[in-house]
Amino acid sequence: MAPGESSGYTYEEYKATADWLLSQTQHRPTIAIICGSGLGALADTLKDPVKLQYCDIPNFPTTSVAGHVGRLVFGTLNGKGCVCMQGRFHLYEGHAVWKTTFPIRVFQLIGVKTLIVTNASGGLNADYKVGDIMLVKDHINLPGFAGVNPLVGPNEERFGERFPCMSDAYDKELRSLAAEVSRDLNSCGILREGIYCALGGPSYETIAECRMLRALGADAVGMSTTHEVITARHCKLRVLGLSLVTNKVVMDYESKERANHEEVLQSSKRSAELLEKLVTHIVARMDCSRNTS
Ligand code: HPA
Repeated sequence: MAPGESSGYTYEEYKATADWLLSQTQHRPTIAIICGSGLGALADTLKDPVKLQYCDIPNFPTTSVAGHVGRLVFGTLNGKGCVCMQGRFHLYEGHAVWKTTFPIRVFQLIGVKTLIVTNASGGLNADYKVGDIMLVKDHINLPGFAGVNPLVGPNEERFGERFPCMSDAYDKELRSLAAEVSRDLNSCGILREGIYCALGGPSYETIAECRMLRALGADAVGMSTTHEVITARHCKLRVLGLSLVTNKVVMDYESKERANHEEVLQSSKRSAELLEKLVTHIVARMDCSRNTS
């Protein structure tokens, strides 16, 4: 870290934001949902919504990505208290990694126990089709290999330990529940379980990079999520990850296909409804009394 460069927020800043949010709403959510590219409509289905623009929330970063609204929505989903992020923070926007995960610790301080992360991804697994939903079993945090990890810097013990274990990053029980709900909704044909790999972006991957990621064991690739999950696990939130495959990555030098953000937004619009339905039913059947681990 360069001299004079900040290493992150202070505990007091997280706490001030948490207290401010609690002063703005009667809702006391135990579930937080991060809505990925084109998946923000879920937040519009919350009952008794209280909407707060990121730019009005003390200490909150702001988002600049097309398809991301940039606000928190508090409310209830099937009777369960939820807070939704309509728009998340990415490394490619120029945010420091510790800034991108600011909301996660704030959620923990307001009483959230479970984090549901959704995102758009490119399918690396040849069996995946556009519109499939990948239940995230595990991740590869590629920026972390180069030291870009949200926990870099002094450890804040009030959130968690210095060296948190990531073997159970994506909660087994929640994954079973998601698979069960998907079966009940007759949508298991499009639900896959796989490994999500995050890159920094904003450029899409080269053909050689896609081939490398597949060889490493990744099933889908995107530009978000892993830093949020690491921060959530550090402070003992349970995590469920769902990734919407919005395009197939190009693996073949003869292919004329090219990844582009418009395609990502268009495909997520088409399949977002099913993902929303899945999340809504999962939330309805979630056991919110379970202790976190
Ligand atoms: N690559 C990286 N991120 C993405 C992609 C992709 O192909 N699709 C949606 N997000």
